[in-house]
Amino acid sequence: MSSLRTAVQPTLFELDEYPERVEAFPQLRYMGSKYRLLPWLHEVLAQLDFSSALDVFSGSGCVSYLLKSMGKRVVANDFLLFPSQIGLAVIENPRYRLQQRHCEMLLCENPSRDDFIERTYSGVFFTDSDLRFLDNIWANIPSLPTRYHRALAITALIRSCVKRQPRGVFTVAGDPDRYKDGRRDLRLSLQEHFLESVAVYNRVVFDNGESNRSTQHDALEIDVAGHDLVYMDPPYVPRADDNCYIKRYHFLEGLASYWQEPGTEIMHETKVKKIPKRFTPFSYRRSALEAFNALFTRFRKSHLVLSYSSNGYPDLKTLIEIMRRHKRRVKVHERDHRYHFGTHRNVKQSRADVREYLIVGE
Ligand SMILES: C[S@@+](CC[C@H](N)C(=O)[O-])C[C@H]1O[C@@H](n2cnc3c(N)ncnc32)[C@H](O)[C@@H]1O
Repeated sequence: MSSLRTAVQPTLFELDEYPERVEAFPQLRYMGSKYRLLPWLHEVLAQLDFSSALDVFSGSGCVSYLLKSMGKRVVANDFLLFPSQIGLAVIENPRYRLQQRHCEMLLCENPSRDDFIERTYSGVFFTDSDLRFLDNIWANIPSLPTRYHRALAITALIRSCVKRQPRGVFTVAGDPDRYKDGRRDLRLSLQEHFLESVAVYNRVVFDNGESNRSTQHDALEIDVAGHDLVYMDPPYVPRADDNCYIKRYHFLEGLASYWQEPGTEIMHETKVKKIPKRFTPFSYRRSALEAFNALFTRFRKSHLVLSYSSNGYPDLKTLIEIMRRHKRRVKVHERDHRYHFGTHRNVKQSRADVREYLIVGE
C-alpha cells in the first residue's frame, strides 16, 4: 500500500517539467545572460543524472535559480561581489524576505549617513536625489537583521540601478532625465525602482530543501569536491570590442560594498569614476586555451556543461578537443540565439545573431 502511494504521489520536483517558478525570476539586463535560454538549458540538464551543481560563473543568477528550482543542491559562484550578493539573496537564502517594516527602516532619513556616492557621482550617473537615496539607504542596510536581508536589499538596488541607467551599463556618463523618451524605467526614481525590485525578488525566495551556497572565488580556485555537475558560462574572448564586466558594471560592483571592498578604489581621473579591471584569463587570446584546459582539469570528476556561443574564441572544435582530453563522452547541443544587449545596437546585427552551444562532457 505504501509503495503504491509513493508511486502515484506527485514529487516536489517533477524531473522533466520546466519548473514554473523560474518564469518569475527577474530578468536582469546582464551581458551574456542565459535568461532567455533557460527552457533549452533545462531540456538538456534534465537528461543528466545529478543532484548537486556548481554554477562557476553565475552572473545574474538565473541558471543557479533554474538549478535550485530543479531541486538540486546549488553553489552559485562568481568572482565579482555583486553577482555573489544576488546568489546570497536568491540561491543561498532559504526564506528571509524584506518586510514592509524593513523597507520603512531602510527609507528613513539617516542623519549620520555619508555622502560618498553623491560627492563622487554627481553629474556622472543618475540624479542628485537618486544618489542621496543610495547614500541614505546604505547607511541603513547594516541594521537589517541577517545577511540574507542585506543581500536582498543590495540585489534590489542592483536591479534598480540597471533599470534606471540608460542602456543598463555604466560606460558613459549622463543622467536619465536627459532621455526624454518617456521610457518608464528612466522615469521612475531609484527609490521607486527599489520598492518594485524588493517585491520582485521577495517573490522568488524559496527553500528547495537543500543547503545551497553563494561564493565569490576565482573559477580556478574553487573547491572542486561535492559537485555532481559543473555548469560553466565564462566570458569569451570577443571578436570585437571587449567583454570586461567591470568596465560595464563598475558602479554595481562598488555599490555592493559601498566601495569598501579591496579592489573597489575609485580611479578619480576617469570620466565615469571607474574601479580597476579584474583580470580573468578567459578574456584574452593569449591565456584562454590554457584557462579552459585548467577549468576542465579541475572539475574532471564532475559532469561538465559548458555554454558557448559562435561569436567567441576559442572555436567550437577546439573546445570539444580540450574537453575530450578529460571526458570520454562529449556531446554538443545547439540552437540559434539573438542576444538583446545594449552595446549590440552599435554593431552589425549579424554579430548579435549567434549559434548557442551546450557542450556536455560525461
Ligand atoms: C557570461 S557571464 C555569466 C552569465 C550568467 N550565466 C547569467 O546567465 O547571468 C560570465 C560571468 O563570469 C564572471 N567571471 C569572469 N571571470 C571569472 C573568473 N575567473 N572566475 C569567476 N567568475 C568569473 C563574470 O563576473 C560574469 O559574471
